[in-house]
Amino acid sequence: MSKSVPYVTLNDDKMMPQLGLGVWKASEDQARQAVREAFEVGYRSIDTASIYENEGGVGLGLQDAGLPRESYFVTTKVWNADQGFDQAREAALRSLERLGLDYVDLLLIHWPLPMAERYLDTWKALIALRDEGRALSIGVSNFNPSHLQRLIDETGVVPAVNQVEAHPYFQRADLRAFHQEHGIHTEAWSPLAQGKVAEDPQLQAIAAKYGKSPAQVALRWHLDNGTIVIPKSVTPERIRINFEVFDFSLTEEDRQSIQALDRQQRLGPDPETFAMGA
Ligand SMILES: NC(=O)c1ccc[n+]([C@@H]2O[C@H](COP(=O)([O-])OP(=O)(O)OC[C@H]3O[C@@H](n4cnc5c(N)ncnc54)[C@H](OP(=O)(O)O)[C@@H]3O)[C@@H](O)[C@H]2O)c1
Repeated sequence: MSKSVPYVTLNDDKMMPQLGLGVWKASEDQARQAVREAFEVGYRSIDTASIYENEGGVGLGLQDAGLPRESYFVTTKVWNADQGFDQAREAALRSLERLGLDYVDLLLIHWPLPMAERYLDTWKALIALRDEGRALSIGVSNFNPSHLQRLIDETGVVPAVNQVEAHPYFQRADLRAFHQEHGIHTEAWSPLAQGKVAEDPQLQAIAAKYGKSPAQVALRWHLDNGTIVIPKSVTPERIRINFEVFDFSLTEEDRQSIQALDRQQRLGPDPETFAMGA
C-alpha cells in the first residue's frame, strides 16, 4: 500500500506535493488519460508547459477527475518565445485558458535564455500575475545561480522553486547549496534520468534489497534529499509504481552508494547556451 504524498512548504508559505506527474512528450490524449490515472492512484500534482502542447489534455484530465480545485496542484511554464513583460503575461493567460483554470498553483519561466536579456522583464510579469491571483506561486526553471541572483537583486522576489535537471548521474550539489541558502526549493526534472535508472546495475542491486524497482529507489533518494520530483509516465503501471515510494526508506549506506553515481552527466541542454525560440 502506498501512503499519501508528502507536501513541502515553499518560501511563500504555499504547500506543494513533493511528487507529481510530468507530462512532457505526452500527446493531448495521453496527457488526459495519464492525469486521470495519476489522480486515481493518489497524485495531486501535474507538471506541464505551453511548449508540451498538452495543456488542453491536462485540463480535460483534471475535469474528468472532478476533484475540488484546492485539492490539486498544477504547474505550467512560460516558453522561451514568450519572454518579455507583455508577451509572458499573455502567454500565461492563454495557458490558463487551455487548462480551463482560473489560476495555476505554480508558474515558471521555462529557460533563462541569458543571451536574449529578457528573463528579468519576464519575472516581473510573473510577479504581477501572482499579485493578481493568476498564479499562487512563481518560480523558474533551468536558472543558474547568476540568473537567480539577478532576479533577487533586481526585484527582491525570490523564486519559490527552481526546476532543473537532476538525477543520480547529475546531482547538482553546488546549485542545491545556493538554493538552500536562499530558500528556493529544488525540483528535479528527468528524475529517472529519462528512464535510464531502470537499467543501472547498482540501482538494481539496491532495489532488490527493498523489493522495489530502480526507479522507485531513485525517487526515494530524491525525496530523502528534500527534492520535489515529477517523474513522467504515460504507462498506467509505471504511474502507479512511481507513486509507491512512501512506504520504505533507504539506509545511509545505500544513500551514499547512490551519491557516488554522480558523474556530472547532463542529458538536456546547457541553460547558458540553450536558445530555442529566442
Ligand atoms: N523544465 C524543463 O526544462 C524540463 C525538461 C524536461 C522535463 N521536464 C519535466 O520533468 C518531467 C520528467 O522528466 P522526463 O520526462 O524528461 O524524464 P523522467 O521522468 O526521468 O523519465 C521519463 C521516462 O522514463 C520512463 N519511465 C517512467 N517511469 C518508469 C519506471 N518506473 N521504470 C522505467 N521507466 C520509466 C517513461 O516512459 P513511459 O512514459 O513510456 O512510461 C519515460 O520514457 C517531464 O515530463 C516534464 O514535466 C521539465
